[in-house]
Amino acid sequence: CGIIGFTGDKPVKNILINGLEQLEYRGYDSAGIAVLGDKGVIIKKRTGKVAQLREAAMDLSDGALCGIGHTRWATHGGVTDVNAHPHKSGKVVIIHNGIIENYRELIVEYGLKNKLVSETDTEVVAALLDTLYSGDPIKTIKKAVERISGSFALCIMFEDHPGVIYAVRNVSPMVAATFGDCSMIASDITAIIPYTKKYFVVPEYHILTIDKGNIKCENLSGEVIEPEMLEVSWDISSAQKGGYPHFMLKEIYEQPDALDRTIRPRVSDGLPFLEEDGISDSLFDGIKNITVVACGTAMHAGMVGKYVFESKLRIPVNVEIASEFRYKDPIIDKNTLTIVLSQSGETIDTLEALRLAKKKGSPVLSIVNVKGSTIARESDYVLYTHAGPEIAVASTKAYTVQISAMYLIACRYGLVKGIISEDEAREFIKNLENVRSIIEDTLKNANTIKMVANRIMISPDVFYIGRGIDYTLCLEASLKLKEISYIHSEAYAAGELKHGTIALISENVPVIAIATEKDVYSKVISNVKEVKSRGAFVILVSHDDDINDTSVCDMQIKLPEADSVFSVFATAVVLQLIAYYTSDAKGLDVDKPRNLAKSVTVE
Ligand code: G6P
Repeated sequence: CGIIGFTGDKPVKNILINGLEQLEYRGYDSAGIAVLGDKGVIIKKRTGKVAQLREAAMDLSDGALCGIGHTRWATHGGVTDVNAHPHKSGKVVIIHNGIIENYRELIVEYGLKNKLVSETDTEVVAALLDTLYSGDPIKTIKKAVERISGSFALCIMFEDHPGVIYAVRNVSPMVAATFGDCSMIASDITAIIPYTKKYFVVPEYHILTIDKGNIKCENLSGEVIEPEMLEVSWDISSAQKGGYPHFMLKEIYEQPDALDRTIRPRVSDGLPFLEEDGISDSLFDGIKNITVVACGTAMHAGMVGKYVFESKLRIPVNVEIASEFRYKDPIIDKNTLTIVLSQSGETIDTLEALRLAKKKGSPVLSIVNVKGSTIARESDYVLYTHAGPEIAVASTKAYTVQISAMYLIACRYGLVKGIISEDEAREFIKNLENVRSIIEDTLKNANTIKMVANRIMISPDVFYIGRGIDYTLCLEASLKLKEISYIHSEAYAAGELKHGTIALISENVPVIAIATEKDVYSKVISNVKEVKSRGAFVILVSHDDDINDTSVCDMQIKLPEADSVFSVFATAVVLQLIAYYTSDAKGLDVDKPRNLAKSVTVE
């Protein structure tokens, strides 16, 4: 979910709605605002996108100068107008991101049942606050926070305290800023950046009193603290489409620059250099194996990293789905380096996995895109990727920069441990710096890729096959296609297909085969022929020049020549574009696919 609050000397309605548009990628089932002006609290909320809320709020006068807004990704309770936030109970109106785990107990303990009209855990907190309220907001919030468990970022207004917003959080992200006579709070900086680049991360379990141009931050014992100010390095244009029809396409095309920004500062004299990121070589002392934890696309980036660590450096790497890792008593200790991958730095499953790894004594190095995010702050070491803001829900540039960061770490590790020579490291880095041009060449294939998309958009199923590193790319390609085109798709290790899935191959079903690894190239081609002879429509992604042989493939996408370890960047771009053009050809909302949210801050 995305949350926003504003109080100041400007009409709040459009500030809130514009801010929600910036935050919409965090959830878009429903949206709502509550403004607090002369007429008390007025709430407008609707299922659907923020655009629908804007329409619904047309008749709301611009008088109010203080308000809160929310864009929802449903957890408790269906997608209905009543379940949309804000929720009001008596004098209290709130918005919430997170999950209140003990909401049932609270209903019973405080007899809240009759106060509830929705099915949400959030409304229980509103009712609890109203029940506890005796005129002192801070005291009330303190009492409530001591009773609720779970993750939460709450913005609260009390009808008898006009012009003031209160906020408190645990785990769920929230940043705040002041500028002139105005103050703002939001789930992330994208909503605030049109007004100021300076902000702070709201400390957990601290209560904020947000007034016009002034924010007081106190802990639960009432001590006032000065939060550390941060500044974003990008400006608002980075969070806008800049002439592209969708954020996703823009972000695909931004990859050469994003990779440059991530790689170049970490190269010195042709060798990987991580000291300036605070990652000293001593981190690798005693490390015998690596565990990578992440979710979704970030986890797939970890799989590519695993391949490089294992094949080039012979160090064992486990890639773990964060939501599984955290409940399985993982076998790690101080000799395991845990690498955490996260674009947002806020994914709750990944964050909890990180905490568990630390508890087990494993040093944690995270690869994160969002500066100052919770995962970055809680890790022992951080290597920031510099992809810039990624707005499309389907991750693209964040994935390729994560891979490049894994490669930098692998190369440094290999060098420090004497597994690779300086010359080999230099060669590796040279190739890594060259991926920029590989991607630029690949982007020139956009028209061929569009033709592929036009072919697969009519199909109910699509299969991706590959071996080795290409198989890891298949997993990501299949996820991307499912996410944004809603076409059922499977990724299979090419050699495994015959052990079951080949039963699904029928006349004209598209199979996208990736074959960039020289060692197993002929094996993949054999697997391709197996599906071809069963009627599949094969699209081959490889380094081959024109193959005019329909017993091998029906369409072909040629990748620029490169070792498969570096070809992944080109392959990734091809697969991202296939998904993009398929979704676009189907007329779908590419940047905001149904049911998804970019930043999942609930379990
Ligand atoms: C969500 C997004 C995915 C993303 C995953 C991990 O599920 O929809 O695109 O890969 O979270 O996000 P993170 O911010 O931790 O990389």
